[in-house]
Amino acid sequence: MPQGMRIAQITDTHLLDPKTADRQQAARRIADFEKTVEAINALPEPPDVVVHSGDIAHDAKPREYGLAREILSQLQVPVFTTLGNRDRRPAFREVFARDGYLPDPGNPDGFAQYAIDIAGVRLVAVDTLQLGSRRGEICPERHALAEQLITAAGTKPVVIFMHHPPLRVPGMNWPMFDDEPAAARFLEMVKRHRQVVHILSGHTHRADVIATGGPPVSIMSAVATELRIDDFPESRVSVPVFHVHDVEVFDPCHRHADVITTVYSAA
Ligand SMILES: [Fe+2]
Repeated sequence: MPQGMRIAQITDTHLLDPKTADRQQAARRIADFEKTVEAINALPEPPDVVVHSGDIAHDAKPREYGLAREILSQLQVPVFTTLGNRDRRPAFREVFARDGYLPDPGNPDGFAQYAIDIAGVRLVAVDTLQLGSRRGEICPERHALAEQLITAAGTKPVVIFMHHPPLRVPGMNWPMFDDEPAAARFLEMVKRHRQVVHILSGHTHRADVIATGGPPVSIMSAVATELRIDDFPESRVSVPVFHVHDVEVFDPCHRHADVITTVYSAA
């Protein structure tokens, strides 16, 4: 009987401040997020952990993060978060360093990069925020820190979560990173560490799974339904979705694990 871990992933909630943004739009983003949290709580087999892979807030306002924290606090399992291109480190840390949502807070401008060990699996958060750009960045410091966190897992399977997928996405004509060679070096480093079994990401607002010759990269559509660019059937256009990744560890000594991803609808 394989052991393992169940991860529920949410991403790209893009919360807006109802006091300053369009009220209807702000209300819809909140409702999408709340419905998703309710649906995760209602899963017959609850996850061990929930990860948010970034773009939590749309304008990085403290009020948006406060709202996100309020909604995430309804979850019945631990939640871990990382940053998207719309997020900003100081405001994000101010809210999420509390309550264990963001371990190892470091300094306010420090990278949101850390590891969590749960149920025999290591989760590694990689911070790809590049200030002033919608594209991602993996500087030498973040590359080295990620490698250190992966290496420290020993034989445990590792799942990475990061906002920007670290490669070109088929069918999209724009790069995810300004420094694409740096992203490629990151992916090559990850592939050398055979215990990494999956990379979870967001950013494109379109679901995908991309083979790399190493761990697959899966991309989740946005929780914010109006920002999704996937084709959804008419009846699902306004229904938020989330991903559940079941990491099944068959043989911990030989780092053999599989990840099965299922897409769930909130309602
Ligand atoms: Fe986004």
